[in-house]
Amino acid sequence: MATYDIFAPFYDAVQGDRAEEITYLGSLIERHHPRATTVLELACGTGSVMEELEPRYELTGVDLSERMLELAAQKLPRARLLQADMARLDLGETFDVVLCVYDSINHLLSFEQWEAVFDRARDHLNDRGLFVFDVNTERRLALLNERPAWAHWFGDGNLLVMDVTASGDGTSVWGVRVFENLGRSGYRLHSEEIHEVSFPLERIKASLSERYRRVWAYDAQRARPTSRSERLHFVCRK
Ligand SMILES: C[S@@+](CC[C@H](N)C(=O)[O-])C[C@H]1O[C@@H](n2cnc3c(N)ncnc32)[C@H](O)[C@@H]1O
Repeated sequence: MATYDIFAPFYDAVQGDRAEEITYLGSLIERHHPRATTVLELACGTGSVMEELEPRYELTGVDLSERMLELAAQKLPRARLLQADMARLDLGETFDVVLCVYDSINHLLSFEQWEAVFDRARDHLNDRGLFVFDVNTERRLALLNERPAWAHWFGDGNLLVMDVTASGDGTSVWGVRVFENLGRSGYRLHSEEIHEVSFPLERIKASLSERYRRVWAYDAQRARPTSRSERLHFVCRK
């Protein structure tokens, strides 16, 4: 069973309204590639980003989790959705934009795998196409590791308990527990562990610069990325 197969049915309700961040993502594409028409999303999950982009672009989505893809298919009956590992993808075709967002790349636990995604994205781009992805920074993962477990109610009386802890090998382990409200029968517990890792900004930029002709880094919360940035977006032109 792939990671996210257990969490999948609750994912959208837990994430809530993401319109603001998806608008921001759309603005990056618009600014750097206003004539783009085709988009490949790596790690598309339940298709929330694709759903917002659908009126404007022809979309293909790839994810490892069958259950996340099933939910995406319900939202996006016209999109092409494929189950695959983004670090090994070879569709034999190219797109104007390749996306990989909502810290999906952090789920790959070695820098070699990140670089495999940088390569796979470049090989799926048209000339001067864009690879756009975001990361949780090392700082954000360190802050989450220190934070006590937190809980919040969502949906129809379900409870999410989240506990992020540092493991000895440098990864952050997101302990996700959902207590599903079954009404009079009580609650059913669904548990999953999601692992994330991050790397220094300069290392990411250096690696991208070897593969792409231009690389921009953005912090949606600041004028420019700093050591205090918690999430960064990278825009890379092939
Ligand atoms: C935090 S979710 C983000 C989903 C989606 N991008 C969004 O914005 O909602 C991370 C996603 O990455 C997927 N994923 C993790 N490792 C992957 C891999 N090696 N190849 C493809 N998808 C992967 C998971 O199945 C999950 O759907």
